[in-house]
Amino acid sequence: MGPEPKGNYTNSALRVGATDHYPQRLVGEFIGTVVANDAINDEYKHLVVAVHEHALKAYAGQMFHLLCPSPDGAEVWMRRPMSVYRVDKTAGRVEFLYKVEGRGTKGMATLQPGDEFNIAGPLGVGFKLQPDWKNIVVLGRGVGLATLAPLSQLAAERGVGVTAILSARNAAVVMSRDLFEGLGARTLTVVDTDRSSAVENVETIIEALVAEGKADAFFTCGSNRLLKLMQRLGKKHNIPGQVAVEQIMVCGFGACYVCMRTFEVNGVRVLRRVCRDGPVFDMQEAVGW
Ligand SMILES: Cc1cc2nc3c(=O)[nH]c(=O)nc-3n(C[C@H](O)[C@H](O)[C@H](O)COP(=O)(O)OP(=O)(O)OC[C@H]3O[C@@H](n4cnc5c(N)ncnc54)[C@H](O)[C@@H]3O)c2cc1C
Ligand code: FES
Repeated sequence: MGPEPKGNYTNSALRVGATDHYPQRLVGEFIGTVVANDAINDEYKHLVVAVHEHALKAYAGQMFHLLCPSPDGAEVWMRRPMSVYRVDKTAGRVEFLYKVEGRGTKGMATLQPGDEFNIAGPLGVGFKLQPDWKNIVVLGRGVGLATLAPLSQLAAERGVGVTAILSARNAAVVMSRDLFEGLGARTLTVVDTDRSSAVENVETIIEALVAEGKADAFFTCGSNRLLKLMQRLGKKHNIPGQVAVEQIMVCGFGACYVCMRTFEVNGVRVLRRVCRDGPVFDMQEAVGW
């Protein structure tokens, strides 16, 4: 399929002959309009952007590549990758939950309602839910919870039960609780301040969920130690899983190979592009960092 007759949108970030995971999800560069950009705590902001209808086809786990404004008038080379936090099809909006870190996200933090914002996507391969999964366990830490949050939307649409274990440094920076709970997920918060986020405690929680039959699949993002825990428990109980991976990106659609990471498939180490082959991968194939 070539470009649409009346638009400038390509149909996908595809190489010739490659499989299109999302044939109905047109990829493009869109100029959205900022609706809101509010601080939700000292570190994180929530950006709501009114977008072209094609951008609303973003799937849980996919990302947009954002052209961030400059925070200080100097250059901001390259776009910044950001998971889609929520898609509001009725209002025609895409939302991002982001941590204000370096110059790109500091530039994003300056956006005001009514400003234009250039986003490219939706890009990459997102989460998949198998039809026979009735209950899933979602375990995320920090900003990884923003990436996992749309799983709650996807699971609610499919009638799949979700237990979300939200890990954070302290209670003030626990992310996405409202979104998970609003969509019917059972949420458990674990934090460093009372040591409930310790791997041994999280392991006890997950073992109980497995024993209850509430863990048909595992999902994680945002922490290497939690990835390793879920890999170990997944192997032990033969539970499949997916992990969303972060990596520095340049093009975001498979051309530059900057985002390569090592994976292990049947004992063989292979390199994959996080932007194009992921960012969501089979949990057991991911090699920790
Ligand atoms: C698939 C994917 C989804 C993401 N989703 C989110 C999200 O939902 N919310 C959120 O807050 N953050 C998310 N991130 C991380 C986000 O891309 C970085 O925080 C952001 O690029 C930092 O840019 P900066 O200019 O503020 O920081 P700087 O440190 O100044 O950035 C310098 C360079 O490093 C890159 N970089 C820095 N940190 C990261 C990182 N963790 N991952 C990838 N590139 C990085 C930047 O893109 C830039 O090119 C995601 C990253 C990936 C790969
Ligand atoms: S960022 Fe260019 S190939 Fe992934």
